[in-house]
Amino acid sequence: CSAPNRGPRARCSPVSVGPALPAHGARSVLPRSAKKGRSQQDPRARWLKAAILLLFLCAAAGGGLVVWSRVRTQDGIPEGGIPADGVTEVLAHRSDTLQDKFVEVPCSEDYESHRRFAGCTPRKCGRGVTDAVITREEAERIRRIAERGLSLGGSDGGASILDLHSGALSLGKHFVNLYRYFGDKIQDIFTEEDFALYRDVRQRIQQRIAQVFGISSSALYLTKPTFFSRMNSTGAKTTHDEYWHPHVDKVTYGSFDYTSLLYLSDYSKDFGGGRFVFMDADSNKTVEPRAGRVSFFTSGSENLHRVERVQWGTRFAITISFSCDPQHGIGDPGVTGHHP
Ligand SMILES: *[C@@H]1O[C@H](CO)[C@@H](O)[C@H](O)[C@H]1NC(C)=O
Ligand SMILES: *[C@@H]1O[C@H](CO)[C@@H](O)[C@H](O)[C@H]1NC(C)=O
Repeated sequence: CSAPNRGPRARCSPVSVGPALPAHGARSVLPRSAKKGRSQQDPRARWLKAAILLLFLCAAAGGGLVVWSRVRTQDGIPEGGIPADGVTEVLAHRSDTLQDKFVEVPCSEDYESHRRFAGCTPRKCGRGVTDAVITREEAERIRRIAERGLSLGGSDGGASILDLHSGALSLGKHFVNLYRYFGDKIQDIFTEEDFALYRDVRQRIQQRIAQVFGISSSALYLTKPTFFSRMNSTGAKTTHDEYWHPHVDKVTYGSFDYTSLLYLSDYSKDFGGGRFVFMDADSNKTVEPRAGRVSFFTSGSENLHRVERVQWGTRFAITISFSCDPQHGIGDPGVTGHHP
């Protein structure tokens, strides 16, 4: 019964919808019809029927296996071998509450092609996940800020962004500048309290990164782009909507040295798909988003990553990035002086 593993899936499809039923059906229906003409039948015909029955049962069991393994991988529980979604290890389950998980990985050479800043440019590289820096309640408040801002625009495709620093907001197939568009009316949309919370959250994430990588927090500079994202299952309309390609942040944005992501909604509760995946040569390791969870990592090729396409629901997050180069530093956004 190894057919489901080797043969084309189509061969098993007639029975894959309900593995148990066809098997029982086969048992009760086939022998009864066989009884009818038993006396006239030669033993070869009976052999044939038995063989057909066996094949049928085998196919049904195989179909069951296919369904079972599909359900298992959907649950994100790999069960030996290489699962269909390519995920080999879960670094952080949604249901975990992690204090300070950290995995060190050797630094890539990406940092060599940029100016080095002593006491900041990564010498120790890796990835961390923590649920202990930002509370779920704070994440919810930030999500409401993101919702409010993004509701003023929105991409035609499945990925919209709002950059509080530059004011860039997705609209249709393009971006508009929220601050230019609303001018002083921006104070009716974002309050000083909103900006204060954002600043506070940014500072705490910065301190955690500094602590884990053994550098001084004051050596890190907030850099751009730093933005809210809202993703759903709608297909891409422009390349801006294609967030799922594997990439290296330092290659995409030369100024990045440390990247962080603050999740504002829950994987498998608010949305399906949309897991963060570190792509190593020999494995894919996921971080399942959870409101208030911070995932942070050095930005070079040691942390090649991608985000799975969202299957259903809406996924909210903020990307907050840091540079060691003061020339790439930007200020915190605020009601007065949101321009970098
Ligand atoms: C996804 O978001 C866009 C707005 O950016 C919206 O037009 C679309 O209807 C949403 N798709 C789903 C499936 O909710
Ligand atoms: C990692 O996932 C990608 C698809 O996302 C897949 O092509 C690749 O084979 C996977 N790697 C491993 C080691 O499983």
